[in-house]
Amino acid sequence: MSRTQQAIHEFEITDVEKMHTLDAFLRIPSVSADPEMKPHLLEAADFLKSYFEQLGMDEVKIFPTSLHPIVFAQKRSINPDAKTLLIYGHYDVQPPDPLDSWTTPAFEPTIRGEYLFARGSSDMKGQIMSTVFALESVLKTGELPINIKFILEGEEEVGSPSLESFINKNADLLKCDMILNPDAGMINKDSPTIVFGLRGLVYFEVRIDGPKMDLHSGLFGGNIANPANVLARIIAQLHNPDGSVAIPGFYDRVRTLSDEDRRKIAMNPTSEADFIGVTGAPALHGEQGYSVLERQGARPTLDVNGLYSGFIGEGAKTIIPAYAKAKISCRLVPDQQHAEIYELAEKYIRSLVPPTVTVSFIKHSGGPFYLAEDAPGLDNLIMAYKETWHKDVTFKREGGSVPVATIMQRVLGVKSILTGVGLPDDAIHSPNERLHLPTWRKGIQAYIRFLTSFEN
Ligand code: BES
Ligand code: MN
Repeated sequence: MSRTQQAIHEFEITDVEKMHTLDAFLRIPSVSADPEMKPHLLEAADFLKSYFEQLGMDEVKIFPTSLHPIVFAQKRSINPDAKTLLIYGHYDVQPPDPLDSWTTPAFEPTIRGEYLFARGSSDMKGQIMSTVFALESVLKTGELPINIKFILEGEEEVGSPSLESFINKNADLLKCDMILNPDAGMINKDSPTIVFGLRGLVYFEVRIDGPKMDLHSGLFGGNIANPANVLARIIAQLHNPDGSVAIPGFYDRVRTLSDEDRRKIAMNPTSEADFIGVTGAPALHGEQGYSVLERQGARPTLDVNGLYSGFIGEGAKTIIPAYAKAKISCRLVPDQQHAEIYELAEKYIRSLVPPTVTVSFIKHSGGPFYLAEDAPGLDNLIMAYKETWHKDVTFKREGGSVPVATIMQRVLGVKSILTGVGLPDDAIHSPNERLHLPTWRKGIQAYIRFLTSFEN
């Protein structure tokens, strides 16, 4: 049996223990957005630290930040000339809401068929453990041909506020030749995927205040502006009839897609029917003049993520609400700058507010776009994927955001390999998030092949 086969076999015979470990990790409700869950972020960081220690890593450390801690671990190769691979992950998860839409509770991992259901199973505790288990199997079956470092943060789902300064301060510790970032995913279970573009993000809240309290809508309706009506009218003016965003200046820095860009995007075989199938929406909607894949990965968008006003309980209650709130985000593409887009959005929205109400803003996260066609180590991973799936790799421009890739490129000078074994129908950020276990296991095999490919 070759070294690689031994390591794959090692994973297979320890599969039950590995599932227990993943189960225990998924039980920790490490919701970074919820201040009440703060102790559980520490618990998740401790969980990783203990696992790394038990694996015999050379160095394991938890770095506190002003929000949630960062876990660092490293294992050196005995080969003094070995290259260094930095693996990034985030152990925080999205809020589990809406709770009553889950078939089984979000933090009680449950297997149904080929899937493991739990918040974070796909995004991205399962992805973290796929790399950790691959390393473990390689360590158990011989020498490590490469130096490995892990950086695992707890703030990705809230825009990684502490990460940039941490990377700046610890650039030496994080020094590496390659970066593996498995926080993206595959286009379908038969197609290993490399992501070469990600969108940026800007996220903010708008609040419209009217009367000092909720009012009887019969006594006051007709004389007092209704903040919910006003906010709805503002939101309606954020898009043009052709589906484009109406904020003046929004498109000023957007790079026009070249024929070559469009050809590359179109090589991804995902179809319109796939989008309908995964989402269950009755029809597609988007900016005119662009394909679904261009709209997903290479055109900017604006979306309301949450809308709140007035009485949302059962039955009818006749009021004019005192206030209305909207959570709004924009996905951004090269060369849009999130700080500038925020300014433009705020200015435009202010111009739409009538004198009958007042407006206020809260700015949440902002993150940069990422675009890089290659990365060191990519050829090794492509080979590993081919050997595992017996299929050519798909290259994709993805619509989600992973701010760390841009930060690492700037500070560490290394481009990231963005990939992962999550699937489009894993319901990440949604109720009933799940991980397709056969694909996840294949991913571990591929990562084992990737690690052993550095043997000479
Ligand atoms: N893992 C996702 C992003 C992703 C998903 C990339 C699938 C590619 C394929 C990540 O955890 C995420 O959701 N990020 C947030 C970032 C934000 C809060 C700054 C996002 O994109 O909404
Ligand atoms: Mn993620």
